[in-house]
Amino acid sequence: MKLSKRLELINQNISDNYDHIWDCCCDHGLLGAKLLTRNVSAHIHFVDLVPTILDKLTQQLIQFFPPTDGKTQWSVHCLDAALLPLSQFQAKKHLVIIAGVGGELTAKLIQQITTANPTHDIEFLLCPVHHTYQLRTQLIKLGLNLIHEQIVTENKRFYELIHVSHRALAPLSHTGASMWHATKNEHLSYLKKLILHYQKTASTHSQNTELLAYRALLSSLLEYENKN
Ligand SMILES: C[S@@+](CC[C@H](N)C(=O)[O-])C[C@H]1O[C@@H](n2cnc3c(N)ncnc32)[C@H](O)[C@@H]1O
Repeated sequence: MKLSKRLELINQNISDNYDHIWDCCCDHGLLGAKLLTRNVSAHIHFVDLVPTILDKLTQQLIQFFPPTDGKTQWSVHCLDAALLPLSQFQAKKHLVIIAGVGGELTAKLIQQITTANPTHDIEFLLCPVHHTYQLRTQLIKLGLNLIHEQIVTENKRFYELIHVSHRALAPLSHTGASMWHATKNEHLSYLKKLILHYQKTASTHSQNTELLAYRALLSSLLEYENKN
């Protein structure tokens, strides 16, 4: 099973350190299936809204990862990811992955999941499509801190991998503090693309805030590059 570069990078950022891993908005389920082939010790939960996709996925999982002693190491949930049944697994360590959906939806899902499960030990591994500034703003509001962040380039598209939890200690920033490298041309291209986007759409106060923040970041990266 060949994963896309983006999914492979998400896979590489998943340690064998969880009791439950939730592949939310899983669609084809490739990422969760990869984790099963890796023999991670966690139970893998596949979550999506579309029954037909999940029926097909279930058949494939039964074929490739059949039950042992009547039990599978995976479950399939036809469910809105906002409603993850985490309360069934108190005192367990959870990794919730949300990838391949918009930043606004990702933000909404995390807000609902954290509000419904205030005492759970949850890490979130996120790789949204667009609107990362708004997503990061929401994560900061919810008190989530940074474990790791990274820029991913795939088919000339840019993504941000954002790994956060309440237990982490590093503050999360609105534009991403540790993922930018002034010497990487693709990072500068991504930043210029963001600035161009907000230049075109900045009519509201909030979008101006984003534009100013990304411009300041570009200046500081270029300044760093000139000095070194
Ligand atoms: C483009 S696929 C992403 C697949 C995979 N996660 C990836 O990154 O390649 C988006 C999937 O999200 C699912 N989805 C959208 N909103 C959802 C929600 N609220 N709860 C669960 N699944 C959702 C859709 O049904 C669709 O299968």
